[in-house]
Amino acid sequence: METLAPLFYLVASVCFIMALRGLSGPETARTGLLFGMAGMAIAVVTTLMMPIVASYWWIIPAIVIGGSVGTGIALKIKMTDLPQLMAAFHSLVGLAAVFVASAAFTNPEAYGIGVAGDIKTASLIEMALGVAVGAITFTGSIIAFGKLQGLISGKPVTFPMQHPLNAGLGLLMLALIVMLCTTESGFVFLLLIGVALALGILMIIPIGGADMPVIVSMLNSYSGWAAAGIGFTLHNNLLIIVGALVGASGAILSYIMCKGMNRSFLNVLLGGFGGEQAAGPAAAAGDRAVKIGSAEDAAYIMKNAASVIVVPGYGMAVAQAQHAVREMADILKKEGVTVKYAIHPVAGRMPGHMNVLLAEASVPYDEVFELEDINRDFPMTDVVYVIGANDITNPAAKNDPSSPIYGMPVLDVEKAKTVLFVKRSMGSGYAGIDNPLFYGDNTMMLLGDAKKMTEDIVKALEH
Ligand code: TAP
Repeated sequence: METLAPLFYLVASVCFIMALRGLSGPETARTGLLFGMAGMAIAVVTTLMMPIVASYWWIIPAIVIGGSVGTGIALKIKMTDLPQLMAAFHSLVGLAAVFVASAAFTNPEAYGIGVAGDIKTASLIEMALGVAVGAITFTGSIIAFGKLQGLISGKPVTFPMQHPLNAGLGLLMLALIVMLCTTESGFVFLLLIGVALALGILMIIPIGGADMPVIVSMLNSYSGWAAAGIGFTLHNNLLIIVGALVGASGAILSYIMCKGMNRSFLNVLLGGFGGEQAAGPAAAAGDRAVKIGSAEDAAYIMKNAASVIVVPGYGMAVAQAQHAVREMADILKKEGVTVKYAIHPVAGRMPGHMNVLLAEASVPYDEVFELEDINRDFPMTDVVYVIGANDITNPAAKNDPSSPIYGMPVLDVEKAKTVLFVKRSMGSGYAGIDNPLFYGDNTMMLLGDAKKMTEDIVKALEH
């Protein structure tokens, strides 16, 4: 098996690359997932067949317990809770890296990296980096999970001298890595773990709810690098390749998200942006005039339109309104109305969030357009149906330099003849800011749950 293992590992690596390729688009995502599952099955079975595995007594029960818990969670988890699930899983990858490095440090003979007190320098460097990144990933992911799950406040937690303190801890961590490699001291090893655990917490607490998805993606990247570091310690080429794939793809995803919000990565890391959702109706509306319509009004307006663009956002995901939206679009199309969907790159809370929901509701892919392909269509469009979206339509991003979302590309929905906004209140979106579009002359607010409102529109269209 030892001679065949590199071949199987190569096949598994190709499967993982094909998985990432497949996951880059909704049409190919399912095939991508199948490749990922096949790659992981090949990787696990190959590793278990290696002669180095002395006994299955610990491994099989661990796989059964872990696999059952994972399957149970996957079957129950709601689509809107996926970001925190990712954060929770990344924390386990970080913890695994810390455990493996600790085991290798205390029993280097078993890993073929030297003897206690005389570990190879290269192995010490890999181990120190793996344990530091793993510990940061562990506590950072737990804080991210707590914030996204609402267990701790989503508000940025800031205090004086926070950034100098974090920078100081970062430098201390580097110094400890150097000390560990030169002294091989057990105390320094423990201190390194402690400092990295503290840094993970301190790095993530100043980051507000709005930036959490970027942070989850960044922690995903860290967990990949930690796994790659441990791959060196374990002399496992597949772990190095997979870790590097996860590390690189997570970093690229974080970059794409930052670009979608027109923020720099450093700006996200420095934190302090966004918090909990703001405001009820009165707080946001003040004394400004708002046109409020009903499902019947919306049905009448859309039935008499030539073109409708649907703009989905986070609220559609929360309400699970995608099936009702497709039903509404089907009726409108039968009436001769052209229906398109406009997807903003950071609509919802995960990259591709809206694409996944629309694909689940069998919306044809050729009706779904990205921001840069559809923005020029709004001035020629009769009705825009904004369902559970807010920040991604906010013109403050274009014309208010003091706005926290200034510079973020947005969908130009206000250029259409009529804008229908479906949401439950006049409250703000994730960035916590007011949206002047709600008070526009061509805007009609349809206040209510996205699914219920759309179903009522469907009923009104049918009658
Ligand atoms: P948001 O700006 O968060 O607005 C969503 C709106 O949905 C809310 O204003 C809320 O208003 C409404 N809503 C919630 N539940 C609803 C329900 N059951 N029925 C009807 N409406 C409901 O969402 P968006 O426009 O999709 O923008 C995404 C935001 O997330 C941006 O700020 C973006 O920067 C941020 N973000 C996204 C990502 C990714 S990758 N997608 C990553 C990082 C940050 P009511 O409470 O009044 O109903």
